[in-house]
Amino acid sequence: MTKANGKIIQWVAIGSLILLFVFSSRGLAKDDGLAKTPPMGWNSWNAFKADIDESKIKAIADVLAGSGMREAGYVYLVLDDGWMAKERDGNGNLIGDPVKFPGGMKALGDYIHGKGLKYGIYECRGYLTCQKLPGSFGHEARDMTTFASWGVDYIKLDSCFAERNGRLSSVELAIYKNAIEQTGRPMVLSLSDFGNGSWAWGAKASVHLWRTSYDISRSIGSVYACAETSGGDGMIHPAFNGLWQFAGPGYWNDADMLQVGNLRDPKEDKVHFSLWSILASPLMAGNDLRSMSESVRTILTAPEVIAVNQDPRGFQGYKVSKNGGREIYNKPLADGTTAVLLLNKSETPADLTVTWEQIGLAGAQKVRDLWARKDLGEFKGSFTAANLARHEHLLIKVGTPGGKPVPGPAPVPLEKYSVTRSGAMYLGDLYYVMKQGEAPRTDTNSAGEALSIKGVKYPKGLGCRNGSRIMYKLGGKADRFQAVAGLDDSYTGPETVRFRVLNEDFFGNQVLFDSGKLTRDQAAVKIDIDVKGVEYLLLMIDGKGVAGDWADAKVIADGRQAP
Ligand code: GAL
Repeated sequence: MTKANGKIIQWVAIGSLILLFVFSSRGLAKDDGLAKTPPMGWNSWNAFKADIDESKIKAIADVLAGSGMREAGYVYLVLDDGWMAKERDGNGNLIGDPVKFPGGMKALGDYIHGKGLKYGIYECRGYLTCQKLPGSFGHEARDMTTFASWGVDYIKLDSCFAERNGRLSSVELAIYKNAIEQTGRPMVLSLSDFGNGSWAWGAKASVHLWRTSYDISRSIGSVYACAETSGGDGMIHPAFNGLWQFAGPGYWNDADMLQVGNLRDPKEDKVHFSLWSILASPLMAGNDLRSMSESVRTILTAPEVIAVNQDPRGFQGYKVSKNGGREIYNKPLADGTTAVLLLNKSETPADLTVTWEQIGLAGAQKVRDLWARKDLGEFKGSFTAANLARHEHLLIKVGTPGGKPVPGPAPVPLEKYSVTRSGAMYLGDLYYVMKQGEAPRTDTNSAGEALSIKGVKYPKGLGCRNGSRIMYKLGGKADRFQAVAGLDDSYTGPETVRFRVLNEDFFGNQVLFDSGKLTRDQAAVKIDIDVKGVEYLLLMIDGKGVAGDWADAKVIADGRQAP
């Protein structure tokens, strides 16, 4: 071998190693040791919205540190939107609102740290925050450096206006991840994108948690809806049985911040807390701690309920049964026991029974009530929570510590929700990985009848009603997306409809196809577009009350790209 040949081989080897590293790290979770269990703390938004100031925040820090909350695990004190001045300073750096925070943001961080707490702060990846204060777009490295210099430990990164940035979300979040790494300061990165599929498209490569829902509000209905986005089919195909397979130590589905203490009564507060615990959702308190009652404090600090949430195995709970608002969840724990939530959301009182078979156990098992912190005895084969009224529940632990780990369910295999083979594949035959709005119907219009556009009937396709977003995983395996989009003939109203096809999520805003606004009289639109290299495809319909069809929707993957 000549010297020159040797050099070439050496460079090819180095190049391959680099490529291997780049590709194998794609989609892998950050492994920086942060957020190994769901983050716990307090966030200002649910209690105060943007009305925050130095004295309020210091008072909150005092309560966190003096009420037992810090010891219970609530260590992050996070300032949400509303902390910053309307303009950056003369050097382009973010500064705190001088009236609300006269001592400055570094001094506030010192105060928070002085209380044995960690400092969290809000920013937005758009050019403005949701409250129209300066956003971080175009200032990413500078802002992360500023935060590090203030001693920030946790960043909540919002997404308002990010669709104007012209970058795929996966690319944008990697920019933040790298900017944070460059500062040398470990900071948890919490993404607020209102449930746009981050679990699916791999935000875990850059962030530690992501929202699964729109904003939570002060009602049990909102609590249930947010819980359904993570634990049910609120945002994903029912076959997944919630988002459990997308979470684990270091990366979490965030059903939004807590409203415990802001609901109607302790019964609702407890249900809320149990749901977040079983779903391994971050526990960010959102009540005004300065006026917290003893009963709310007791709920937020319930040690055995928190232990379920903070279990080191990091397995997100999933439903083992649901029947008209009667729901049973299971969360296998690290010590070989398992936590079970039996919840009655229905109008009428009910007995709820969990069988050991449903949760991977057998024989006689010990049962402990985690709210009452009381052993209930040994039960053979099953356990019944008797006569649960509406919004009542029981959170129990089943089994004996030290036993064999209880297995979780099998995750949905890749070939069911991703393009993995060559040829044509109807999208309706794949499980979607994200949906907003009503679930699409497969091979019928939204009313369950034959898909029909401009008099032509289609045996295959997706029938949607109202505005909707549906995301499919193509995994970079498809070449073309083809469909006939149009208003279903069953729709006779006056509204217009707009069909768009995007690469990845809404905020990436990489539009591959846009029909513009269509009226009922306009022809069906034939779509045949190049989707080579596209990992995730988003089908969007805008329209009020319309019946929109993606008739004959399919992807074509050729032999060359098949595995
Ligand atoms: C929303 C976000 C809320 C809160 C608010 C601040 O987009 O979902 O949690 O941060 O912005 O303006």
